[in-house]
Amino acid sequence: MSSTLKQSNGLTMDYSSYKTDLSKRRRPVITRELVKIASSASQSLVTLAEGAPNEKTFPFTEISVKLDDGTSFTLEENELSTALQYIPTQGYPPLLQTLREFQRRVHAPPLWESRDIVIVAGAQDGLSKTLESVIGTGDPILVPDPFYPGVEVVVTPHQAELISIPQDDLGVIPEDMREILRNRQLSGKKMPKIMYVNATGANPTGVIIPLERRKEIYRLACEYDFLILDDDPYCFISYSDEKPKSFLSLDTEGRVIRVDSFSKVISSGMRVGFITAAAPLLASIELHLQSSHLHAPALSQVMLYKLLKIWGHKGMMNHVNRIQHFYKERRDMIVSLAKTHLNGLVDFAVPSSGFFLWMEIRGIEDTWKMMMQRGVAQGVIMAPGASFTKDPTKPCNAIRASFSKASYEEMNLAMERLAQLIREELADRDALQNLNS
Ligand SMILES: Cc1ncc(COP(=O)(O)O)c(C=O)c1O
Repeated sequence: MSSTLKQSNGLTMDYSSYKTDLSKRRRPVITRELVKIASSASQSLVTLAEGAPNEKTFPFTEISVKLDDGTSFTLEENELSTALQYIPTQGYPPLLQTLREFQRRVHAPPLWESRDIVIVAGAQDGLSKTLESVIGTGDPILVPDPFYPGVEVVVTPHQAELISIPQDDLGVIPEDMREILRNRQLSGKKMPKIMYVNATGANPTGVIIPLERRKEIYRLACEYDFLILDDDPYCFISYSDEKPKSFLSLDTEGRVIRVDSFSKVISSGMRVGFITAAAPLLASIELHLQSSHLHAPALSQVMLYKLLKIWGHKGMMNHVNRIQHFYKERRDMIVSLAKTHLNGLVDFAVPSSGFFLWMEIRGIEDTWKMMMQRGVAQGVIMAPGASFTKDPTKPCNAIRASFSKASYEEMNLAMERLAQLIREELADRDALQNLNS
């Protein structure tokens, strides 16, 4: 394809074996390519090629934005026109450049010149487009157990085989993973082309996979030849002093596809995330974007660019430090409330990152009905654990409680009500057992 994406000079991997036939059949849309050419051309280019509307007809003349630190910026004239217009599929070029510099600085990825970035409409968009370029009908995929349900809904319609990797309090267990891969290979089964992982602040468990495990998982990826899709929206919301290197930082072979998101750190409604990967992998994703929503929202991209320009790297890091502190206080609140109200009823590990407390309920086989029926009736809802497993119809004794938004009083009430629910559920279970004995 004629792409502005860089070519994969330093990487020797042949990416075609990871792509689905469908993905390989995608072709560039000429009108999208023309937008790209026009956006990077010199001022003297006269273009009658694009089908863009005339910005003079748009009813907006200015967009003013005030920041919480008292500064402000305004979008007007050319910048406003760009923000309200079609832009190249890969993203708003100045934001792309800022993000490239950001990734280099934060992750120092090996062979950077062979990689690039594509801006997407949030991490969910990024991971669904990535998975759909790799997972064909019936293909296997490695996933942690439990894992983010946004993956299951993408791959299940493709009848993908979800290979669950057990986790402990440090995340995915590499020894178990090795065993699963070795047995699979010995039995001649189709081997996975990709692993999904959410290495920092895993949703739902809040675990940060430590560096040694990351290295071991990466070694397995090289040995068994699969890609690693690291969905990392919580990477800047970590409550631990240890900040292990990302999979992207470890990626000497070009097999890591990293998905970042602004949702948790700037705004979820702006719908902006970005994928960093080897250029040939990004090319497939860009073609998929060309055939779906053309590009992530331009207004959001221009606003983000302005914000990051005003802040600079230091300002952005100050902001993420502030929000880390904000969420850590909430994490501490929910943990202390869980200890007060749920003592003896649940087991949990203190989340090291992210927004969630994952609790396993003692003596209750499945939390689905307890939450979705009794919980709703009694004024408390939390996510039933089964929704984070590969087969949500199977029983699961866990629940996920979010501490990102609720006030202290709301969390207190929720924990009190949950304790009551569990006690009622246990009483019902005992009554049933007595009846049957
Ligand atoms: C692990 C994980 N991945 C992806 C997403 C989706 O994020 P975005 O808003 O960037 O699409 C979420 C949101 O909750 C998440 O927890």
